[in-house]
Amino acid sequence: MQAVILTKTKGPGALKPVELADPCPADDEILVRLRAVSLNYRDLVILNGAYGKRQKHKNLIPTSDAAGDVIAVGNKIKDFRVGDRVIPIFFSDWITGDPDQATIVSDWGRDRDGMLCALKVFKSHQLVTTPSHLSDPEAACLPCAGLTAWNAIQGERKVNAGDLILTQGTGGVSLFALQFAKQAGARVIITSSSDQKLEKARALGADHLINYSNDKNWGQTALALSGGKGLDKIVELGGTQTLKQSLIAIRPGGTIGLIGVLSGATFGDLLLPFIVSRKITLQGITVGNRDQMETMGQFMEDHAIKPIIDQIFPVSEAQSAFRHLQSGRHFGKVCIGV
Ligand SMILES: NC(=O)c1ccc[n+]([C@@H]2O[C@H](COP(=O)([O-])OP(=O)(O)OC[C@H]3O[C@@H](n4cnc5c(N)ncnc54)[C@H](OP(=O)(O)O)[C@@H]3O)[C@@H](O)[C@H]2O)c1
Repeated sequence: MQAVILTKTKGPGALKPVELADPCPADDEILVRLRAVSLNYRDLVILNGAYGKRQKHKNLIPTSDAAGDVIAVGNKIKDFRVGDRVIPIFFSDWITGDPDQATIVSDWGRDRDGMLCALKVFKSHQLVTTPSHLSDPEAACLPCAGLTAWNAIQGERKVNAGDLILTQGTGGVSLFALQFAKQAGARVIITSSSDQKLEKARALGADHLINYSNDKNWGQTALALSGGKGLDKIVELGGTQTLKQSLIAIRPGGTIGLIGVLSGATFGDLLLPFIVSRKITLQGITVGNRDQMETMGQFMEDHAIKPIIDQIFPVSEAQSAFRHLQSGRHFGKVCIGV
C-alpha cells in the first residue's frame, strides 16, 4: 500500500512517500480503505518533533484524522460490514467517561502510526459510522477539531441559547465552535488576524468580528460588546498571548475552555485571585471520547452541519498541504485525499 512517512522530525520537507506491505485483519479487526485525511495544528508540532517525550521521531506515519470505508472484516466482527463508511476516533482507546492514564495517550500519529496511508486495520471500538450527509474529506475533519469544539460548546458547562461566546481565529477548531454555538442559539464573537477571514466568518453566522492584530486589547472590546456583563464562554485557542484578554472578557461565573497554545504554552503571571474571586471556570478540554463522537455525528446529521474545508490536496502534495497549514492562510480545515 501507499503511505507517507515522516523520515525524521524536520518539518514538512521530511515527509516521504513509501510503499508498505498491505495490512491483513485478524479475527477481531476491520480493514479500512482510508480515502481522506484532515490536518491539525498538532500534526505540524509532531512534524517538528515538539509534541512531548512520547512522540516517535523516525519513520512515523503522521496524522490522526481520517475517513474511509470497510473493505474486509475478521470472523468475529459483528458491528461493521464491508462497504460501511467509517471514521476512526482520535484517542484509539478512549470509549466513554473520563480518560485514564492509558487512554489519554492513545492518540494516533504520535507514538503509534497514524492515517496517512491507503489501508489500516482497526478494532471495532476504534471506529464510528460516518454521518450520511458528509463526504470523506468532510468526515475526516471530525475526530480532533470537530470533537474538541463540540466539547467546548456542548460538553460540560454547555452553551445555551442567548449566551454570548467568543472563539479565537478561523482555523479548524474555531470554525466548528462557531457552527455549534450558532446552532445552540448563542451570539458569537470571532477573532482573526485577517479582515477578509472575518467577513467569511460573518457569512457563517458570526455576530461580532474582532481583528486581534489591530486590537491588542480585544478583551475590553469583547467586554463592551456584552454591555459590560462579560462573556458566558470563551473558546481559548491562543494560550500565552490570549488568556489574559480572555480573563478580561469573561463574566463572573463564566467558563474559559482551555484548548490551544497557538501563541505559547505557559502563563507566567496568572492572577489566581482574579479567577477565584470571580468564580471563573478554567475548563481543560482534550478532544473527547467515542460516545461523544457518535453524539456529535448524529447532531451534525440532524442539523445538516458540514465542516468548513479550505483546500483538499492530493496525497502526492502532502508536503504542500502541511506547508499551507503552517502558513496560516487557511480558513477552516486542510485535507489530503489519500
Ligand atoms: N486540547 C485539545 O484537545 C485540542 C484539540 C485540537 C486543537 N487544539 C489546539 O488548538 C489550537 C488550534 O488548533 P487548530 O487545529 O484549529 O489550528 P489551525 O486550524 O491551524 O488554526 C490556527 C488559526 O488560529 C488563529 N491564531 C493563530 N495564532 C493566534 C493567536 N495568537 N490568537 C488568536 N488566534 C490565533 C489563526 O487564525 P486567523 O488566521 O484567523 O488569525 C490561525 O489560522 C492549537 O493550539 C491546537 O494544538 C487542542
